[in-house]
Amino acid sequence: MKKPIRILGIAGSLRKNSYNRSALRAAQGLVPEDAILDIFELDGMTLFSEDNEREPPAKVVEIKRRIREADAILIVTPEYNYSIPGVLKNAIDWASRPYGDNVWADKPAAIMGASIGKLGTARAQYHLRQVFVFLNVHPLNHPEVMIGNVKGPVGHAFASMAGQVAGHPRMFVIRDLNQQVRPATMMTTKMTVKSEDYVELLGGVVQAATGDAIVDCIAEGILPKDQLNELCMIIMVWLDPRCATHAELDKKDLYRTNYEATKLAISRAMKGEPTADELIANRKSVQHYALEGVFED
Ligand SMILES: Cc1cc2nc3c(=O)[nH]c(=O)nc-3n(C[C@H](O)[C@H](O)[C@H](O)COP(=O)(O)O)c2cc1C
Repeated sequence: MKKPIRILGIAGSLRKNSYNRSALRAAQGLVPEDAILDIFELDGMTLFSEDNEREPPAKVVEIKRRIREADAILIVTPEYNYSIPGVLKNAIDWASRPYGDNVWADKPAAIMGASIGKLGTARAQYHLRQVFVFLNVHPLNHPEVMIGNVKGPVGHAFASMAGQVAGHPRMFVIRDLNQQVRPATMMTTKMTVKSEDYVELLGGVVQAATGDAIVDCIAEGILPKDQLNELCMIIMVWLDPRCATHAELDKKDLYRTNYEATKLAISRAMKGEPTADELIANRKSVQHYALEGVFED
């Protein structure tokens, strides 16, 4: 069997609930089958001094060994005062010394970062790229992964990619965290959303039913497993606004109807139904409900 590609991931934050540490852990679940992403935690690394660079502490010996053994590096960094945090720079400096023993040299590296700021660590990432020039690291140019505040340019770019329109949220169907269904499915509502209760139903029971139906379509061969990355779907949901506040709302029934409708719609779409012949055959027997009573029989 081919040896897997070993990636060493380092987050530039020591914060317990760090977004960057979370993003790095999330990346672990996303690496391809022929790669392994190991994490090196920077906690407890002493501050660099040139006086000690020839007798580094155990933590530094360890990071240097892990970098040497890695085929590639993934740095996930916050932005501190428009640059990379001291803890990350400290680790970078340690592993670049003593002169002649720069273990970063020639390593391919990917960079990403999460920030509560509007630019999603863009400035820190460019500083890191500058540092990589001297270290002779080979950073990937694309993709640039900048996870930022939704109110900033990153958020706006994402929203325009998703084409958000007030009152008609467009969401990628997920079944749980990190469980976005495939094919990637954008779901939105034909009705204008006017209340939180409505959002809760749409993003809750209806989304759950839609997600379950899509996965069952895969399991039952209605959606071809080998084409999931080539397909994408847009599901328009009609959910009566009165549902949101109706005292007798039956969530089980709401789930069932959305589940069955989604499955039926996907199954018919995949078979190219209705066919032209079916439409012609039904021309007289099927009529839009709005025409009921409009024309005499
Ligand atoms: C010292 C310091 C400086 C910061 N400077 C910036 C900054 O320049 N740009 C930015 O977007 N966020 C800045 N922040 C906010 C960070 O984005 C935020 O604290 C983030 O949660 C840090 O990443 P973490 O969650 O992985 O620890 C700064 C935070 C600290 C503590």
